[in-house]
Amino acid sequence: MNDDIDSLPPAFADDVEEVLVSSADIRARLDALALEIDRDYADVDDLLIVGVLKGAYVLMSDLARRITIPTSVDFMAVSSYGAATTSSGVVRILKDLDTEIEGRDVLIVEDIIDSGLTLDYLLGNLRSRRPSSIEIMTLLTKPSRRRVEIPVKYVGFEVPDVFVVGYGLDYDEHYRNLDFIGTLRPEVYS
Ligand code: IMP
Ligand code: MG
Repeated sequence: MNDDIDSLPPAFADDVEEVLVSSADIRARLDALALEIDRDYADVDDLLIVGVLKGAYVLMSDLARRITIPTSVDFMAVSSYGAATTSSGVVRILKDLDTEIEGRDVLIVEDIIDSGLTLDYLLGNLRSRRPSSIEIMTLLTKPSRRRVEIPVKYVGFEVPDVFVVGYGLDYDEHYRNLDFIGTLRPEVYS
């Protein structure tokens, strides 16, 4: 854990309060989840992995390279929060899929499920396109914050009700390139 903080450039080291999930723990969990996905989709010809931008970009790269069954990759971009740290419940599609998903097996890859409002919208939207199957993988979940129930098949880690950054997750577009999940010092927000 401390290795993660010790190796930070000074600009980040001043801002990070605590490491919640270390880079080593993330790697180990992804190894296990990729094995599960390989096994669950062993009979699928071409699994479509859909990353939700921007938060899932780091996870997509690391997860997709661990999966050994045939896959295709696509991305959607949605906006839910803007620069704030709480959900408005309003979801906008900024970038849609490049591919048709009717009859395909789809795995949505998310950085974090908080209220669940973003995925609730996304799931409804994608289901209406009649995929053969659709499941969700998320790196993080904050179950205590849920406002709508979301059926999540693969979960990396549960985190408490605190705002987290790193490994794709941002605060005001920063900290996405941290290799671990951490919290920020209160001064950063003011
Ligand atoms: P939800 O709609 O409330 O479930 O929020 C989902 C989106 O909000 C995620 O995909 C993230 O982009 C963002 N989000 C939620 N919690 C956090 C957090 O603690 N840190 C950074 N982004 C977050
Ligand atoms: Mg975000």
